[in-house]
Amino acid sequence: MENLIKLHGYLFWYLLLIPTLTIAIPVDTITPTQPLTENQTLVSAGDLFELGFFRPDNSGKLYVGIWYKRISVKTIVWVANRDKPVRNSSGILEIGEDGNIQLVDTTGNPMWSSSNQSTARNTVAQLLDSGNFVLRQENDENPGNYLWQSFDYPTDTLLPGMKLGWDAKTGRNRYVSSWKSSTDPSEGDYTFKLDINGSSPEAYLRNRDKIIHRSGAWNGVRFSGAPGIGTEGFIASSFVKTKQEIYYTFEIQNRTLYSRLLVNHTGYLERSTWIEANRIWNVFWFGPRDQCDYYKECGTFAICDTNDSPVCECLVGFKPRNQQAWDLRDGSEGCFRYHELVCETDGFLTLEYMKLPETTTAAFVDAAMSLDECKEMCVRDCFCTAYTNSNISGGGSGCIIWTAELVDMRRFSAGSGQPFYVRVAASDADKNGDVATTGDGDSGKTKKIILGCGITLGIVLFLLFVFFQLKRRKSVRVNNRRTTEFRGERGGDHLMNAIAISNKRELSGETITTDEFELPVFDLSTIVMATDNFANANKLGQGGFGSVYKGILVGGEEIAVKRLSKNSGQGVEEFKNELRLIARLQHRNLVRLLGCCVDNEEKMLVYEYMENKSLDSILFNKHKSSLLDWKTRFNIICGIARGLLYLHQDSRFRIIHRDLKASNILLDKEMNPKISDFGMARIFGGDETEANNTIRVVGTYGYMSPEYAMDGLFSVKSDVFSFGVLVLEIVTGKHNRGFYKQNNEENLLGLAWRLWRERRGLELRDSTMISEAYSEWDDQVMRSIQVGLLCVQEKAEDRPNMATVMFMLSSEGALLPQPKQPGFCLGNNAAITNSSSSNHNHQTLSLNQLTVTALHGR
Ligand SMILES: *[C@@H]1O[C@H](CO)[C@@H](O)[C@H](O)[C@H]1NC(C)=O
Repeated sequence: MENLIKLHGYLFWYLLLIPTLTIAIPVDTITPTQPLTENQTLVSAGDLFELGFFRPDNSGKLYVGIWYKRISVKTIVWVANRDKPVRNSSGILEIGEDGNIQLVDTTGNPMWSSSNQSTARNTVAQLLDSGNFVLRQENDENPGNYLWQSFDYPTDTLLPGMKLGWDAKTGRNRYVSSWKSSTDPSEGDYTFKLDINGSSPEAYLRNRDKIIHRSGAWNGVRFSGAPGIGTEGFIASSFVKTKQEIYYTFEIQNRTLYSRLLVNHTGYLERSTWIEANRIWNVFWFGPRDQCDYYKECGTFAICDTNDSPVCECLVGFKPRNQQAWDLRDGSEGCFRYHELVCETDGFLTLEYMKLPETTTAAFVDAAMSLDECKEMCVRDCFCTAYTNSNISGGGSGCIIWTAELVDMRRFSAGSGQPFYVRVAASDADKNGDVATTGDGDSGKTKKIILGCGITLGIVLFLLFVFFQLKRRKSVRVNNRRTTEFRGERGGDHLMNAIAISNKRELSGETITTDEFELPVFDLSTIVMATDNFANANKLGQGGFGSVYKGILVGGEEIAVKRLSKNSGQGVEEFKNELRLIARLQHRNLVRLLGCCVDNEEKMLVYEYMENKSLDSILFNKHKSSLLDWKTRFNIICGIARGLLYLHQDSRFRIIHRDLKASNILLDKEMNPKISDFGMARIFGGDETEANNTIRVVGTYGYMSPEYAMDGLFSVKSDVFSFGVLVLEIVTGKHNRGFYKQNNEENLLGLAWRLWRERRGLELRDSTMISEAYSEWDDQVMRSIQVGLLCVQEKAEDRPNMATVMFMLSSEGALLPQPKQPGFCLGNNAAITNSSSSNHNHQTLSLNQLTVTALHGR
């Protein structure tokens, strides 16, 4: 009896509870049998967040959102269906048949759904204490295994634990975007998003497409230009960059503190905490805060400083590009360098308390380097414009190097920002830490101006003196030595004057004079004897302007003889060119010229003999390519890079090879590479970097850069392109076809680009290298491919210079920029096949093996 009463009691309570259960007892989960209706909410287990329906302004529009449970002013942090409200109807949030969370109106119309693609069943959706709303398998052993999560789809608020940035798994670059207005949660005009392409990613605040504010690179503690977004007080911030993820995130030690990062609908970033006593969100940082926070307020090579008037100031050694606008307080056009750099003698200007210039283009990061190593790297690379530590914590470490214009800098007041070192002409460099550095107050500024004037005057007088001295010396030289100058091709001839010539020798009617170099001249008879009268058996190969023979001198020394074809009119120019050039080039990665031989019609060059012949004869030969293991290949890549770097900037002249290809790389006994064939190389003046050769386009299809093949423009960057092709060929063992193919087949560049983007880069590796235990070289292989792809980018300005290439190849763990699409990566290109290869339209399979000279039809 007692038992019966007890049972009745249970039953009574049970029946009483059932109808109110879902409302009265907080539940944090939606299950297939338990949807959420408009008058219900989910509450996270720790009572921190609440998810439910809301109608802003009591309008007819219904949204699903998440807000703080215990904050007395309803603060919405996430909206599910921000762009598709339920209108004039109620709604139900449920687990749909496909396992997704879905929002339907009362007639069953789907309004929104979580976008999980997997066909998992038995799913439930749960609101967590972090504010994350997650979809997961009901009985998943790993509760962190989410099929979908709201944290991947931020609205306007970044909560602790949310990630701003990219995730390889979802392929999404998560960003925050403002509401349209205080009562309209649909996506507004303002976004704050990480640009993940640079080597040191930065976040941009934009109004639609227009950049308003740039966060500056992450400096280990905070974004260098957005001091509020970093580690401070109770907020622990971090920035992560791996192959899988690139993101910014923050954590709060104390769960009961509410803190958020928001992009508000009037276009500001706000970082705030909730103060319950005052019932307000206390904004402790916002941005943009002042004039200098606006993107490119002072353009390039200028510093914005709100303590100065005007706020924009050119760096020392620079002048406003547009003085008139500058005087009218518009600094946006920035400044230009009027004290030119000389490379070897340049110095550095130290700037304190700086927001770092933009890093998303042409900047490189190596987290392992010290500041001294960083400086040394910058000194060695003539294109380096500035450097500094990439991480300011713990006294500073790591290295960022800029190799282009410095854009959007500002100076903070003492105590924030970081030191920054800009390359300037020697006259502008730091002297006792004075003059160059600015940043002091007004009185300091006046002093600086007076001091600056004095020094400028001194420099001007000194420069005038030097100028006249040089002029006198030069005219003396010209009078003494002006015996002959070669008529070089246009664009090149005045440069040839740079080579002083005396010591007369007869050469096809012209007088060659050599002065600073002494080149042995071989008798024709010696050569004939050495090569067994140019016996076919001794023939090593056939180049564009003649054949190459192996020879043995009487003393036993092996030589290679390049014999120019007699009737090749062009050959004479190239011969002289090569003679002039190579005789004064000394580098272990350039083939050594032993002498020349001139006899009536015969013109010959004598080189050191290379046991392993040319790279192409091994690399593209199925039976021999296994001789090249990865270490050898990488050594060859680095050797070619060193040789090319020497040509481009370390030798006395800037030399562009113009015909870099596998058959022009010779290998010695130890498989060390040496660049050969300077028949088409051009010398440039110190500051000239590009020339327009409208007459003849020479080079080899498959290795030619787009701008050279199409417009005849050649520069160090066209050599870089050819180098990139070579690197990809060396890694893959495949030959890059030119663009002359009529069909749409992918060439090597196209293949490399596609596999790279699909993250299958390692598949490019030559199959002969797969059998060995190669995984230890995976990083090096991938780095080489990335460097190769960076070198073959469509736009010359995007390609790195050789110094940077060396840096990228040699620094393990350095974060390299993401390559853009290569030039000529498809098999066909109508414009080219039409304009320059009308005479090659018939099948010319050997074309890309040979050097071709095409008349340019423009
Ligand atoms: C947006 O943020 C800025 C900076 O905190 C503030 O001045 C402005 O009032 C905010 N706008 C709204 C609508 O809250």
